[in-house]
Amino acid sequence: MRQSTLHQLKVFETVARLTSITRAAEELSLTQPTVSMQIKQLTQNIGVPLFEQIGKKLYLTASGQELFLTCQDIFDRLSRFEMKIADFQGLKQGKLKLVAITTTKYFMPRALAPFCQLYPGVDIALEITNHEGVLERLSNNLDDLYIISKIPERLDVALHPFLENPLVVVAPKNHPLAGEKNIPISKLQDEAFIMRERGSGTRAAVEQLFAEHDVSVKVRLELGGNEAIKQAIGVGFGISVLSQHTVTAEAAMSGLVILDVQHFPIERQWYIVYPADKQLSIVASTFFDFLQQESQAIADKMREQIN
Ligand code: PGA
Repeated sequence: MRQSTLHQLKVFETVARLTSITRAAEELSLTQPTVSMQIKQLTQNIGVPLFEQIGKKLYLTASGQELFLTCQDIFDRLSRFEMKIADFQGLKQGKLKLVAITTTKYFMPRALAPFCQLYPGVDIALEITNHEGVLERLSNNLDDLYIISKIPERLDVALHPFLENPLVVVAPKNHPLAGEKNIPISKLQDEAFIMRERGSGTRAAVEQLFAEHDVSVKVRLELGGNEAIKQAIGVGFGISVLSQHTVTAEAAMSGLVILDVQHFPIERQWYIVYPADKQLSIVASTFFDFLQQESQAIADKMREQIN
């Protein structure tokens, strides 16, 4: 048996599966005499008949059946091995295209650093945009993975929540409500408000909460980014609602505080998402798993560094 070659086993497996030398020869692009010769040599090596011919039909003997199962096992393992090798190659020199909402701007570089250390050959492109921008790229299948705070309603996606994204009311530290506890949401009615641009998920969540509680704020300024909003709060344009992840120590130093308003924080999540029918590359699925496993630890470390 040990003198038999992998090629002979492949020929045998094909004949056994198709129960025909003619069809096996076709599938393997060999001549019929070559296939018959390989089976003959294999039978001699093993020392017992593998097939019996009754009329024109070919049947496996009990030993042939046993060898057939063994071959299936061998070829299955070999193809899994080949897949693993391809995967390792992919992780050595793969590419990863990510797009994420603006609130992840501080978190994502911190998540990517340890991933890059683990897989130094992987090239990463990260695009940061607002909710609508992410949705548009997702519906055009432009990237490997998408990070978003609201599950898209009209697209069929695979997703996993990986970290909370609470939205809080941010004000300058000399604001009259700073330090007050349990401020009724209706009090925001009188406040000058800085709103994110249309298409922002933060804006949509804020507008929904205000609508639910019949609060209409005076929008004094509309700005297209969390950083610009923090600057505007700092110089006294008004208050706003931002992801807590964007209110870093540096923001606190520049004179911003979180107000304790009823119904806040707006509880949201970050989700890692991709189109349900997309076959993820090995790099993308490795990052998908990495983010789910490591995100909490990365966020905790980030907070420690900030405080
Ligand atoms: P965005 O971020 O406001 O930039 O769209 C989305 C979110 O965090 O919900």
